[in-house]
Amino acid sequence: MSKNLSELSGRKGLEKNLFEELGIAARAAGTPNKEDIDILAEEFLMGKANIYGTTSFYDFLRPENKGKKVYVCNGSACLTAGTQNKLKEQLQGSFDANEIGEMCCLGRCHENNAFHVDGHNYSGDAINHLKDVKDKVYPIQEKYHSGALGKAILTQPIGEVKSYYQTWEKALNSGPDALLAELKIAGLRGRGGAGFPIGFKLESAKNTPSKTKFIVCNADEGDPGAYSDRYLLEERIHSVLLGMMIGGYIMGAGWGVLYIRAEYPESITITNQAIKEIRTLGFIGNDIFGSGFSFDFKVISAQGAYICGEETALLSSIEGQRPEVRVRPPYPTQHGLFNKPTVVNNVETLANIPFVISEGGAAFAAIGKGKSTGTKLVSLDGFFNRPGIYEVEMGTPLSQVIDTCGMGFRSKVKAMHIGGPLGGLVPVSKINDLSIDFETFASQKFLLGHASIVCLPEGFPIIDYIEHLFQFTAHESCGKCFPCRLGSTRGYELVKGAKENNASIDPVLFDDLITTMEIGSLCALGGGLPLPIRNALQYFSDELNPYFQTH
Ligand SMILES: Cc1cc2nc3c(=O)[nH]c(=O)nc-3n(C[C@H](O)[C@H](O)[C@H](O)COP(=O)(O)O)c2cc1C
Ligand code: SF4
Repeated sequence: MSKNLSELSGRKGLEKNLFEELGIAARAAGTPNKEDIDILAEEFLMGKANIYGTTSFYDFLRPENKGKKVYVCNGSACLTAGTQNKLKEQLQGSFDANEIGEMCCLGRCHENNAFHVDGHNYSGDAINHLKDVKDKVYPIQEKYHSGALGKAILTQPIGEVKSYYQTWEKALNSGPDALLAELKIAGLRGRGGAGFPIGFKLESAKNTPSKTKFIVCNADEGDPGAYSDRYLLEERIHSVLLGMMIGGYIMGAGWGVLYIRAEYPESITITNQAIKEIRTLGFIGNDIFGSGFSFDFKVISAQGAYICGEETALLSSIEGQRPEVRVRPPYPTQHGLFNKPTVVNNVETLANIPFVISEGGAAFAAIGKGKSTGTKLVSLDGFFNRPGIYEVEMGTPLSQVIDTCGMGFRSKVKAMHIGGPLGGLVPVSKINDLSIDFETFASQKFLLGHASIVCLPEGFPIIDYIEHLFQFTAHESCGKCFPCRLGSTRGYELVKGAKENNASIDPVLFDDLITTMEIGSLCALGGGLPLPIRNALQYFSDELNPYFQTH
């Protein structure tokens, strides 16, 4: 990343944002035209090549997106459900082939058949009502089950908005130190994958002197199979906003930025409406309740790039730079957005904060298991009898999630990909060894991640799934480091060659490849992909052996 470009982009602050301007410029044709790029380069004092470099990175800005009218979900859940090809065929009855693009996971994993048209997502039976969809008379809001097993923190209805924000008044009266202490007592850890305690990040940013600071909500939920952040944005947005406000107050941030993926258009609309509502109620703005603290929100619509979920790539993205992962240190809490102290947290992490402050850190810490305190949202895909979003106390056996929440599988399943594309591939034989918490998953050499579950049915070839994972990583790699940039593509070629041309894979070469990715990648995209691949090699060797040479 370039610190100079961060400064240049930051000159206009968040009010006029370069990345947002690129999205606006792309609206008419699907990609910004050359004149727009030239104007923006001049306005932001950046090189045209920098702006073009950004544009060419994103699925919804790059020139190849020109003229696309409808997008098919290419996420893992729609893949294993086998709905994508038929969906494309049906769409070809109403659209030219070159008008049909792809989007990565629309978060409709509970009923599959997902596609996006005219700024809205559809799934399930919608494809059979394409005329109504095109005429804009088909219902946009889908239905899926949600509920809690045990204590409900995140799925608990918030009730009347004004009363809910009494916690905000309480927080402003308590002062930052007392609030930070409660978060530390709660032991609240990040829900976006890494499980890092939020208290430490807020404290680090709080202790970094700067007039300008930011708290950023990472709502780029790119993990195919996960739609729990979407649930929170669309059903519990006030918990997310209040969490950001309290976090912002603790660290001294004047701005809360919500970076929401474009694949979730309804989430963006609902978030904007909620911000408007609390601005009218006087909960945000200047000198809130005469406290001397001022805070406001900015919503940024992402443009289709999985890597922007990685927190430093996300910051570069907001700055309008090409979203390459940044080398740490310095950490975002010291040099973050526009080089200012910034805390980035996941939607679910932030949504837990109001409970911690209203009920106390000890009440939160009393829920869960060991160092995994509180609850976790789990996303169940369409292979369950009752797919949906379930809140379970940390430590809940996986078998209970499957049987009690999901009411079992609706057809025979051989494995579950848990925690996104970089999570472990869990064979059904391991179900009884796992419970929903960070430690148990790690001890069994899997990853809790975002706790999304994508099922692989009995008939879905594991080799196809491995191919999909390499292809996904190759497409989403930011290109900053060679092990990931080259390794993902070489891995894809090897697997594809073995499948299509009987070119048996050399197992030593293959192991070298994934070991290099594992130890040599800068971030967890290249570094994390080998986990599910190794799981597949370990648990499904019978299926995979025919594709490998025997020495
Ligand atoms: C390739 C990659 C993708 C990621 N995607 C997301 C994401 O979509 N949402 C998220 O909250 N964190 C994601 N993360 C993790 C973030 O980098 C970061 O750890 C997180 O936003 C911090 O918030 P938390 O502490 O509340 O979890 C991703 C990390 C990597 C390496
Ligand atoms: S591992 Fe991949 S995504 Fe991460 S920095 Fe390297 S090239 Fe970029």
